[in-house]
Amino acid sequence: MSDEPIARTSRRDFLRSTALAGAGLVAGSATAGASGPDPKIVEVQDWASSFGDPVDATPYGMPIRFESHVVRRNVEWLTESPVSSINFTPIHALEGTITPQGCAFERHHSGAIELSKADYRLMINGLVDTPLVFTFEDLLRFPRSVTTAFCECAANGGMEWAGAQLEGCQYTQGMIHNMEYTGVPLRLLLEEAGVKPEGKWVYAEGADASSNGRSLPLDKALDDVMVAFFANGEALRKEHGYPVRLVVPGWEGNMWVKWLRRLGVYDQAVESREETSKYTDLMPDGRARKWTWVMDAKSVITSPSPQVPIRHGKGPLVISGLAWSGNGRITRVDVSLDGGVNWQSARLSGLALPKALTRFHLDIDWNGEELLLQSRAVDETGYVQPTKDQLREIRGLNNVYHNNGIQTWWVKADGEVENVEVA
Ligand code: MTE
Ligand code: CO
Repeated sequence: MSDEPIARTSRRDFLRSTALAGAGLVAGSATAGASGPDPKIVEVQDWASSFGDPVDATPYGMPIRFESHVVRRNVEWLTESPVSSINFTPIHALEGTITPQGCAFERHHSGAIELSKADYRLMINGLVDTPLVFTFEDLLRFPRSVTTAFCECAANGGMEWAGAQLEGCQYTQGMIHNMEYTGVPLRLLLEEAGVKPEGKWVYAEGADASSNGRSLPLDKALDDVMVAFFANGEALRKEHGYPVRLVVPGWEGNMWVKWLRRLGVYDQAVESREETSKYTDLMPDGRARKWTWVMDAKSVITSPSPQVPIRHGKGPLVISGLAWSGNGRITRVDVSLDGGVNWQSARLSGLALPKALTRFHLDIDWNGEELLLQSRAVDETGYVQPTKDQLREIRGLNNVYHNNGIQTWWVKADGEVENVEVA
């Protein structure tokens, strides 16, 4: 489009007159002041007075600097060392359902390694007809599939078992990401090697020092598990297992082996080197539940939340949140404004894909009074997200993992939001 100076002058005049006439059209808008027309509307701005960046200024783009607060964050006192640690997705600042790789939480047991496609090998051995070793190029020649799935660390919400602790849904619920993966169904690779009838378990191992070895029952391995190499349309990032990771839809994050290097087929589960007793749920009677792989239905209101207080005062308020279930699709999300006494159904916005994040919205007219905001997810099996107390009645207080209890945000009259629990 031509943008001659002469045209700009006349457009400016046009804008000035319409801005004056139109002032006050947007109720409550900052533009309609007694002090006169808004200069942002009626004056030519710096960014319109000269050229912007040329097309090749950023061959691979980063978010604009005004969004630099939308980043992963960690809680330093949670872990002893940053190479065996976790950080959190800024879910309070994201919308829709797809998590950009650049701010998706990371969990490493021995740091993120740099493994090139040229150095990459994947071995299948154990109870198979033909032990095989694939290069990255080999994997590219298998038929591909595409699937969107959430990956939630079993420890998500783990600090909240004994009561509200961390301020911000990034910290209470941010050990989760949701990406669109492309890769080879694990079933096809296992078929290529030929699983012997005695083979019942697949032991998946990573190339990092920790190996994060995990045993998957063969049924799951043949069902929807993927050997993935693309996420959100581009190569996996180093932090998420470049060049190849396992995607295990609906199951806890520690099964999603990164930098995948070996799949061993066995007649029983191989207990990994040091994690065996770690991912279990200690019950009140001292016994422990193990192999609790599926992540039950859960939800959280991402905005408003402690990091996203209400700044605009009373009136229209968009309540936005995420819901997910490792058992299938989300069918309903209820929202309570009064700590679980009354509930109303939220709108499921966009697709409600199985074992993937689902976005919900509820538009209310906030009267400026305090709220006790809660959300409650229901999935296609009929499972209803429990309260934290309902979970504690069964599981006690010794747990770290699998806390899918209802989250409460206390919205105060000044719009500030705090992490609380209601009795
Ligand atoms: N795979 C390897 N090889 N090494 C690891 O430390 N961490 C596991 C899993 N896969 C891990 C791994 C855990 S506990 C989780 S929650 C997920 O990776 C996290 O995946 P992300 O770092 O892409 O978020
Ligand atoms: Co984890």
